[in-house]
Amino acid sequence: MAKPKTVFSCQQCGYQSPKWLGRCPDCNNWNTLVEETQVAQEHQPSRYQHTLQEAPQSLADVASSAEARQSTEIKELDRILGGGIVSGSVVLVGGEPGIGKSTLLLQACCKLARNNGVILYVSGEESTQQTKLRATRLGEIPKNLYIVNETNVNLITQYIQKLKPALVIIDSIQVMYSPVLGSSPGSVSQVRESSGYIISLAKSTNLPVFLVGHVTKEGFLAGPRVLEHMVDTVLYFEGQRQTSFRILRAVKNRFGSTNEIGVFQMTGEGLAEVENPSQFLLSERPQEATGSVVVACIEGTRPLLVEVQALVSRSNLTMPRRWATGLDYNRVALLIAVLEKRIGLGLGAQDVFVNVVGGVKIQEPAIDLGIAVAIASSLKEVSIGHEDIILGEVGLSAEVRAVTRPEPRILEAQRLGFKRCILPKNNLKGLKSNKFSIELIGVETLTQALEVALKG
Ligand code: TYD
Ligand code: MG
Repeated sequence: MAKPKTVFSCQQCGYQSPKWLGRCPDCNNWNTLVEETQVAQEHQPSRYQHTLQEAPQSLADVASSAEARQSTEIKELDRILGGGIVSGSVVLVGGEPGIGKSTLLLQACCKLARNNGVILYVSGEESTQQTKLRATRLGEIPKNLYIVNETNVNLITQYIQKLKPALVIIDSIQVMYSPVLGSSPGSVSQVRESSGYIISLAKSTNLPVFLVGHVTKEGFLAGPRVLEHMVDTVLYFEGQRQTSFRILRAVKNRFGSTNEIGVFQMTGEGLAEVENPSQFLLSERPQEATGSVVVACIEGTRPLLVEVQALVSRSNLTMPRRWATGLDYNRVALLIAVLEKRIGLGLGAQDVFVNVVGGVKIQEPAIDLGIAVAIASSLKEVSIGHEDIILGEVGLSAEVRAVTRPEPRILEAQRLGFKRCILPKNNLKGLKSNKFSIELIGVETLTQALEVALKG
């Protein structure tokens, strides 16, 4: 037996060092190196194969096969996957514990097993009874859905070879281990080794696989980030556990477009698809409240209307608080600076809190103008028209810049009954105004936008 070796692996990037380091030299994160014991195999097979397996061929001669896709019968999930599950593809579903990853996949399995043959659900975290209990909440359980409580990838491979399923779910990759390595399950090398093993199996047998991965508080996939590079598709399940709203987002997809989102609501009978997310998000919007603005962002290919709320209140602290939920904190700080310096609003002694309702996260600059107007509205205690929608990027000189794809945003607002749209003047040029029944008001500066929006 070979002697065990102690190494220190970075939890974020998988970098390995023979001694402990405070900071990972590869990804520069602090305190991410953890100790692991590895037992090297005595007769390790060569890592690289030097025999020819497949001769190079002209790319032009490679037979192109149209990807056959299996529908999951969950429309939102199909759409994010790019139209369904591709054979041999490996999909990683990441998200915080308790967000609903297992529920979503079990629901998809129940539907798939009805028409697509045997499905194998490998549950490493919950017992088969626990999974059964959950499945009964989701409806009728088909005979073709098989479950096994196992964490050893070698045994899982044997089950797969025996059952020949049409789809395999591994829940979760963090508890899987390969006996080849001596380190404990959940360690960086184990996550990498066992996922590598499962991925190669999927590729060689054309078997589609879903891997569940937990995300740490900082939003990273616990375990090595390399996992994201190894798989074909990475989906993140987002949302706040306190609210029932959930967003499934594709951040990488070799078989479809990225940044596409699927919207769900957690109910007593599992996840329900939300067909009209904008309406759902705006359903609890208060009337005549100050600091509340509706903005239109584009998520993937779809427009989404969300409410941005700002609360400005006098601070008792020498360093007033700035708080942003669902938004980029630095972007909010920048907009506060523009409102102070260019517009002359006295925000220096005020706490400013900005929040996107429903647990949605937005990165787009197109909502800048909405945030700035919401902050000004709360400071001045003037509410914004209930039927107004605001679009625009704000520059450092308080100029309002054009946004990308204004048309779908405006049409979505129109569909939901908004009557006025305050948007960048530069966007007006490219729009055919006779196409819209909504009133379009073009603005060039933040001052103009505030004048229009806060007049009521
Ligand atoms: P789960 O799928 O176990 O989360 P994850 O696999 O991401 O850790 O989700 C569990 C949560 O969802 C739990 O708090 C209970 C809730 N839930 C419902 O609200 N309704 C349901 O029908 C089910 C099955 C779960
Ligand atoms: Mg789970």
